[in-house]
Amino acid sequence: MVKDLFERIQKNKGPLGMWASQAEGYYVFPKLEGPLSNRMMFHGKEVINWSINDYLGLANHPEVRKVDAEAAAEYGAAYPMGARMMSGHTTKHEQLENELASFVQKESAYLLNFGYQGMVSIIDALVSKNDIIVYDVDSHACIIDGVRLHMGKRFTYKHNDIESLEKNLERAVNMAETTGGGILVITEGVFGMRGQQGKLKEIVALKEKYNFRLLVDDAHGFGTLGKTGAGAGEEQGCQDGIDVYFSTFAKSMASIGAFVAADKDIIDFLKYNLRSQMFAKALPMMLVLGALKRLEMLRTMPELKDKLWENVNALQNGLKEKGFNIGDTNTCVTPVYLEGSIPEAMVMVNDLRENHSVFLSIVVYPVIPKGIILLRMIPTATHTLEDINQTLSAYEAIRVKLENGTYKKIAEQTTVDVSAT
Ligand SMILES: Cc1ncc(COP(=O)(O)O)c(C=O)c1O
Repeated sequence: MVKDLFERIQKNKGPLGMWASQAEGYYVFPKLEGPLSNRMMFHGKEVINWSINDYLGLANHPEVRKVDAEAAAEYGAAYPMGARMMSGHTTKHEQLENELASFVQKESAYLLNFGYQGMVSIIDALVSKNDIIVYDVDSHACIIDGVRLHMGKRFTYKHNDIESLEKNLERAVNMAETTGGGILVITEGVFGMRGQQGKLKEIVALKEKYNFRLLVDDAHGFGTLGKTGAGAGEEQGCQDGIDVYFSTFAKSMASIGAFVAADKDIIDFLKYNLRSQMFAKALPMMLVLGALKRLEMLRTMPELKDKLWENVNALQNGLKEKGFNIGDTNTCVTPVYLEGSIPEAMVMVNDLRENHSVFLSIVVYPVIPKGIILLRMIPTATHTLEDINQTLSAYEAIRVKLENGTYKKIAEQTTVDVSAT
């Protein structure tokens, strides 16, 4: 007898969905209200907000809001209609592509409606079944999903581990010699959970020994790293060695959309082969005009990035001075590693939000190993020294309660189900 397809889904909600009844509306799917900024409203109270990727503070910048509103008034949400190839092409889309390409020091660029789908299609378009993909095991889900479409071989290498990459490149070379294909290496410019930069310089150096092309997802590096904000490759002095550069507008650009940049012949190929763009409506004009404004601000207002880094340094140095483990971040992403169970983590985050007015994201198993709690913070240009000092004091207070078992006791007394830890 054929089972009802929904039977499994109704029973097993998945590794994150299993927490829904205890977590939804608070730990997951929280509602942050009010203008996007360093302080927002949560459950009717003001909190210091460390959870949005508005690195440069553009989300609610008056100049950005003005251009967004004017563009919406002039074009509405629809224009242009249709896919770029068919009826959705405009000179403004082209202008934005040209400006993005020059900003990230590449010949050419192409717009994507969403980073996630765009990345899936970029990988799909770049490789054929004879090609081999070698990618960092901790890659973002959009890379994993792109690799899932690949009909040929793929190897993962240990996270940011060049020795492991080399071993897998040797395997890939052997394989490619029999299939007659090429090799694509994929990494992130910045790993968004722990904040390490991908070791781009070392990866690029391996090109002298192995014949491969490099695709970099620089979602968190774009606008935050490098002298001009061109990202992790610029920061490490190896932007030229990145064959295909990708970033989203969802972080420093505080919007929706994304782009891919490379040599002109590669972008010309992608324009005609990126299925997520060929068969989807073009990015609306109001977003294109908004992105042009944001990019102009990235270029002409270096003080935004300077302010961001002032805050990053104050927060990260403050945490280190107080003895907190922030791992090996070398970017704005600021993780704090603590030891404890998931129920303890939930009680602790509740304490942070309710009694210290600090709102941050909590990352637990299965994203990180069991027994570790990762509190993840994204400093932005809108944060103040007062926000940072208040947060540092809150950290000191929660550490005491975590270490003296207060959170454990509360977790045991409440309905939090500890069986899954
Ligand atoms: C590393 C990384 N790649 C890709 C994406 C997806 O981009 P988008 O939000 O534009 O779909 C994200 C999240 O925004 C990301 O963090």
